[in-house]
Amino acid sequence: MRYATWGMRQGRIMKTQLFVWLVMAGLATAQPGQNMRGGMMGRMMGELPANMASGHNPTTEAKVKLGRMLFYEPRLSLANDVSCNSCHDLANYGVDGKSTSTGHKGQIGGRNSPTVYHAAGHLAQFWDGRAADVEEQAKGPVLNPIEMAMPSKAEVEWRLERIPGYVTAFREAFPGEAKPVTFHNMALAIGAFERGLVTPSRWDRFLKGGGGLSAQEMSGHHEFMHNGCASCHNGPYLGGASYQKAGVMNPWPSQTDSGRSALTHQDKDKMMFKVPSLRNIEKTGPYFHDGMTGRLEDAVKMMGKHQLNLQLSEAQVADIVAWLKTLTGEIPKAYIEKPQLPQ
Ligand code: HEC
Ligand code: HEC
Repeated sequence: MRYATWGMRQGRIMKTQLFVWLVMAGLATAQPGQNMRGGMMGRMMGELPANMASGHNPTTEAKVKLGRMLFYEPRLSLANDVSCNSCHDLANYGVDGKSTSTGHKGQIGGRNSPTVYHAAGHLAQFWDGRAADVEEQAKGPVLNPIEMAMPSKAEVEWRLERIPGYVTAFREAFPGEAKPVTFHNMALAIGAFERGLVTPSRWDRFLKGGGGLSAQEMSGHHEFMHNGCASCHNGPYLGGASYQKAGVMNPWPSQTDSGRSALTHQDKDKMMFKVPSLRNIEKTGPYFHDGMTGRLEDAVKMMGKHQLNLQLSEAQVADIVAWLKTLTGEIPKAYIEKPQLPQ
């Protein structure tokens, strides 16, 4: 009954979503652990792709190589001291571990830095989805006055053109272009690199029929499905596929950042955020758009209360957290290895 009431309050879109979820959750929990591949749960959760390729920015080795250098490049910042990796440490699951990030001259931003792993697979970028894809996103921080603080696109191009190693790398990555060193191509290269940032985990081995989850982890997965977490956190990334309100059932404790309504100026978008991916969630705290809590247990409890009107027991929370930890993947060490930056 609880589900019916919940569905009614969400309006039509949520109702449809809820129905699909209920059917899938029912089927998925009917035979836990059996033949997940190609089964309902496989589709609901989805298998992780080998990379998140894009038709409009085809992956080439040269582009990825250049993108990797640019990701680690502090000379893309005004004071030569901040790179993408400063706030999205690839060796540390793509985050900085702070509530909100520190950028140019130690200025502190208003939002928590989300991980760059799997970001390319999301429906859009940023907590509020204001950039369509990782290529568009990569242009933001370089010019953002409190992140990397470069004054203009032209200034970025001017700097890169003066580093012979980059001129060669851009020429190789964008063959045949009259002027390969552009701000736009910088973003394409970074995006191409980010499209390879995937971390397969024990959960993926399980989905492929590999088994190996403990009774507690299975029970956590059951709780996750049964209580409705998967109505928002679904797909191969367990999130990143829709916008939802923070505080659907009980108002979110902090209302300073109102999410998508700042972009759309519409009341219905108040407190709407992109549902974050739960992959590597064990490693990507502090949690939520403002980094409100560093404890995963608290984050899960808050979700129960604010999104589902449920008071999850300590045991339920512990089980869910145990399952969430199966989403911790392997860092692709060779792919992310910091290259020698060109002179
Ligand atoms: C000063 C810290 C800082 C730097 C430097 C920085 N970022 Fe970010 N990044 C953030 C924060 C904070 C957000 C979330 C902002 C928001 O949602 O409004 C973010 C969001 C993102 C996202 C969106 C992820 C998602 O799940 O929506 C991607 C991708 C990303 N950054 C990549 C990059 C790249 C590439 C660079 C370098 C060109 C970079 N960042 C530089 C802090 C930083
Ligand atoms: C109605 C949609 C919805 C439901 C149901 C839901 N979530 Fe969320 N979840 C969100 C949104 C939206 C956010 C981001 C909120 C914010 O940052 O303000 C989020 C954030 C999270 C985070 C923090 C992620 C991060 O990177 O900071 C975790 C962990 C989480 N959810 C787990 C769960 C669990 C476990 C359940 C079930 C008990 C659940 N969620 C149910 C929409 C939902």
